[in-house]
Amino acid sequence: MKIVILGVGGRLGGALLREYREKHDVAGFNHAQLDLASLGDVRRTLDAMNFDVLINAAAFTNVDACETERDRAFLINAEAPGVLAQICNAKDAKLIHFSTDYVFDGEKRAPYTEEDQANPISFYGESKFVGERNVLTAENGHLVVRVSWVFGPDRPSFIDAMIKRAQQDENVDAVSDKFSTPTYTHDLAQILPQFFDRAVEGGILHFANTGKCSWQEYAQWALDCCREAGISLKATTVGAVKLSDMTNWIARRPVYSVLSTAKYRELTGTAPRAWREAVADYITRSYAPTNEKSRKS
Ligand SMILES: NC(=O)c1ccc[n+]([C@@H]2O[C@H](COP(=O)([O-])OP(=O)(O)OC[C@H]3O[C@@H](n4cnc5c(N)ncnc54)[C@H](OP(=O)(O)O)[C@@H]3O)[C@@H](O)[C@H]2O)c1
Repeated sequence: MKIVILGVGGRLGGALLREYREKHDVAGFNHAQLDLASLGDVRRTLDAMNFDVLINAAAFTNVDACETERDRAFLINAEAPGVLAQICNAKDAKLIHFSTDYVFDGEKRAPYTEEDQANPISFYGESKFVGERNVLTAENGHLVVRVSWVFGPDRPSFIDAMIKRAQQDENVDAVSDKFSTPTYTHDLAQILPQFFDRAVEGGILHFANTGKCSWQEYAQWALDCCREAGISLKATTVGAVKLSDMTNWIARRPVYSVLSTAKYRELTGTAPRAWREAVADYITRSYAPTNEKSRKS
């Protein structure tokens, strides 16, 4: 199977490239190699290639910057995915495109299913939602995979920032009244190939590790795992701050955006592992003293 992955310089794209390059014929592009904002270049480059699956892990992911750079956010997150879908249609290839829990407004208090109405409250969420629609209206069996709170070794995320702060500072805090679920790039890379040549009804699939937590709980568990793994920290307890205290944030964020994985479980007969297990595994692989040298920073 010939696969092209966009966004291989990112957290998710990097993990997918590492996972698939041994088993498949894979070409990867990072931002410098292919800019999704240059739609002509995107068309010329991809039209000239042969592939069965195109995976788009590239996106303008800075949620606050999307508020102030709306045209750019729309071009990369909304328009470009539509162009990718058209390119795939012309080759009868499948597009797998990633989206976000931020397409929801966060008013619900039970996990969001694929059938729930999106109602973005930020421009990032809005641009990603239009991107989804542009992919799905192209039909051809394309797949939109919504994920939340992505973490993994290829680019630091919230969890790495918390561990770093706890190594440097005695006081660490995190938001305690915003809830979702972490998604480990390693786990997503493992499960995705079963959808390379399988149509999913409705074209949307939610995937995250199982469970629900606040950022404070997420950070506390990360520090607990570090302690367990013998990693020295100055802070061992994560204090609570409120979402309303984050006055430097520009974009609004959903308070509750847990993604239901019931559809994934129904389709595959398996459940994603619990987020605590996934975080513990990540810390053992990436932070445990014997692995420190191999960790990318
Ligand atoms: N991170 C999360 O918590 C999260 C949550 C929900 C959904 N998602 C979705 O998951 C997917 C993967 O995100 P991620 O966590 O891997 O984010 P990431 O680490 O920020 O990766 C995104 C990649 O896209 C690249 N990119 C940005 N603008 C581009 C452009 N114009 N042309 C080509 N490449 C461009 C970035 O390159 P530069 O850095 O060089 O600009 C980066 O390598 C995205 O669709 C995102 O919306 C992420």
